Amino acid sequence: NAIDGIDEERLETLVERFYARVRTDAELGPIFNDAIADWPEHLEKLAAFWSSVMLTSGRYKGQPVPAHRKHAARITPALFERWLGLWKVTTEEMMPTKAAEALQEKAARIAESLQLALFFKLPT
Ligand code: HEM
Repeated sequence: NAIDGIDEERLETLVERFYARVRTDAELGPIFNDAIADWPEHLEKLAAFWSSVMLTSGRYKGQPVPAHRKHAARITPALFERWLGLWKVTTEEMMPTKAAEALQEKAARIAESLQLALFFKLPT
């Protein structure tokens, strides 16, 4: 019951194109380029992540919250908007409309929960 146009191969290509954009982005690029030493490994991990999210393949075993928390000092809500903007452009460029919309919706939800984990503090 996967959405039309979403399969392992397209997700792999999507991830490649998205991070090619991210790496050259003036604001996002430096954060990723400082954090990631092995890009082929990162792209493989992110393809597995999206495969788990969209195809429920269970290929991704990881912990996104601690991975981002390490970089919390450099990450802002505005950067999440920027990330989602690049995701929108890239999904629209290469996926069928319905698939692009589903990918954008998932990313927005995950961005929301990552931001809650990173930025929400109970009042003291
Ligand atoms: C990993 C940055 C948003 C999914 C990473 C890493 C960085 C990063 C630097 C590497 C962490 C490390 O190993 O040191 C950011 C920034 C974001 C952002 C700056 C937005 C401002 C997102 C969003 C998603 C996402 C919205 C999902 C929709 C992931 C995943 C990993 C990752 C799955 C791999 C975690 C692991 O090691 O298992 N991100 N990210 N990120 N990111 Fe993001």
